[in-house]
Amino acid sequence: MTDIDTKNTIDSMLQEDRCFAPPSEFVEHATINKADDLNKLYQLANDDYETFWATLAHDEIDWHTRFSKVLDSTNAPHYRWFDDGTLNISYNCIDRHLIERADKTAIIFEGERGDIQRLSYRELHSAVCRFANALRLHGVEHGDRVVLYMPMVPEAVIAMQACARIGAIHSVVFGGFSAEALKNRIEDAGAKVVVTADGGYRGNKIIPLKAACDEALSHGCESVNAVFVLKRTGEDIAMTTGRDIYWHDATKLVADDCPPEWVNSEHPLFLLYTSGSTGKPKGIQHSSAGYLLGTIMTMKWVFDAQDDDIYWCTADVGWITGHSYVAYGPLALGMTIFMYEGAPTVPDAGRFWKLCQYHKVTVFYTAPTAIRALMKAGDAYPGSHDLSSLRLLGTVGEPINPEAWMWYHRVIGKERCPIVDTWWQTETGANIIAPVPGVVVTKPGSCTRPLPGIDVAVVDESGNVIKEPNKGGYLVIRKPWPFMLRAVWGDEERYRKTYWALFNNKYYVAGDSARCDEDGYYWIMGRTDDVLNVSGHRLGTMEIESALVAHEKVAEAAIVGVPDDLTGESIFAYVVLKGDRPIDGIDENLTAELRQWVGKQIGSIAKPKEIRYADNLPKTRSGKIMRRLLRTIASGEAITQDTSTLENEAILEQLQGKQ
Ligand code: PRX
Repeated sequence: MTDIDTKNTIDSMLQEDRCFAPPSEFVEHATINKADDLNKLYQLANDDYETFWATLAHDEIDWHTRFSKVLDSTNAPHYRWFDDGTLNISYNCIDRHLIERADKTAIIFEGERGDIQRLSYRELHSAVCRFANALRLHGVEHGDRVVLYMPMVPEAVIAMQACARIGAIHSVVFGGFSAEALKNRIEDAGAKVVVTADGGYRGNKIIPLKAACDEALSHGCESVNAVFVLKRTGEDIAMTTGRDIYWHDATKLVADDCPPEWVNSEHPLFLLYTSGSTGKPKGIQHSSAGYLLGTIMTMKWVFDAQDDDIYWCTADVGWITGHSYVAYGPLALGMTIFMYEGAPTVPDAGRFWKLCQYHKVTVFYTAPTAIRALMKAGDAYPGSHDLSSLRLLGTVGEPINPEAWMWYHRVIGKERCPIVDTWWQTETGANIIAPVPGVVVTKPGSCTRPLPGIDVAVVDESGNVIKEPNKGGYLVIRKPWPFMLRAVWGDEERYRKTYWALFNNKYYVAGDSARCDEDGYYWIMGRTDDVLNVSGHRLGTMEIESALVAHEKVAEAAIVGVPDDLTGESIFAYVVLKGDRPIDGIDENLTAELRQWVGKQIGSIAKPKEIRYADNLPKTRSGKIMRRLLRTIASGEAITQDTSTLENEAILEQLQGKQ
């Protein structure tokens, strides 16, 4: 726990005392706006935890067959929830609204170049049914895997919903990932079909998705027998006869109704690959009913979902946030979502605010890295737009620094909008620690308290709950929850080892360190494993290291995260070459080549910001790389740790860039 203790000391010095009560204007209209109402929820969950979740599941989900079993722990840590129930997620997100809300707008979309689309629930139903029928026609059945590699357009949500409609399991791969990363995910999932587009728009550029997809499929990926291609940019692309089919052709001659396939509560809704501490990303497997319930309840509790909201979560559907708070949660409640395809800075840093004004966004949910970037761009951008439609702001993905929190509160929320800082993970499925904004007082930088029915604790190395306020430890969840991950696709051992082994299957181990203050508020301190958080995206150090050593000139590599004002953390690489170290440690061409290489292996987000060449890496006599030392050096801090166990102490000068 040395890492945790060190960070804790630093964090405690930054302790934040400011508190913000929910603004009265918000409280007045909030669904949960009395402490008593929230306390009642906590009380119900405490009194009878299973009945608490079962009642919500009965009330909030439209079942085909109601369940009688609530929680099955027979095969713990593989938990099953509502096991004998059957339902369909797409039915819950679309069909059930057709009686009262058929003409209500489900999706408002704006592309980077200003093109706007609106889809009512009726239109969404028809589009989803058509694509579901097209998938079926191409042999996609219950349980088959479908990989989506799409731009952030309504068809991405339509494709996800279409998979859910026929019981196929989707796995969305973020459009910023490379062909190689796509290929690895397609192969691990054993996907039968890939859905992509000719390209997407971002940052005034066209992202050539189909070309990357062709490259991925050019070697391996034998399981794939069809590729659906959405025409988005109209660019010339290669189409492989017998394999590739345009979306518009595939959906032309099929019926616009498609009876939903009723699936078991535990049927996997999707896989989503995320980085871990080994080289290979893991396919996090989520369930149907439990997952849906999590997205619904958190939309209600944390986002105070209301019928007239225009809800904008800026996350791409390639991440879990884009699953739970774009494609599923808000639609399950019949809300109107807003989607934007492009970059926040096109044509200028006022784009988000212009979109909020024009589309009258009421709830806005984004990441600290975006908030910091927009803060840096200056107050004039938000200042020249009318942001009065906003009533609630959210943040997710990494700890938000108090300065960015205050800016968000003051400049964007005009001190009228509560901020919900939501802690959760790909694995947790939905928000876990977050304020209920009509009741809970917020503190900048804290995600506040666990939600009702979620049993969170901070424990020490022996698994004992740390009672002393502000002392850091492992963040764990002590009871299973309906929207938890169910498995790591095809890797039972990794599931047990990563999430459960540390405390003998007793607790879910989040991989984060945290502290709890005297008011029971949680403060996330960072990761306890070798995972970096760059712009709110998880990247495994091993994954980037493996990519680097796959380059012909690289013998060894070590990656560490360095604090970064804009991206939270940035990637710093130490590289040992097979040949000689460049003179004075500088070779700009090679550095550019290696960055490019990593981009090709994983995606641009994984490119190291800085590369430092060394003859060797600092290792203990047992051969372990001293990462903590590398982190200190990369951050430009003075070395205070004991280096006497180093095999090669002389290397330190070189690593510090001194020779
Ligand atoms: O370290 C935590 C950080 O992001 C990790 C989860 O990453 P991912 O699975 O990609 O999901 C991101 C979106 C849910 C966590 O283990 N994290 C997420 N939200 C917060 C956070 N750290 C601090 N505060 C948050 N609100």
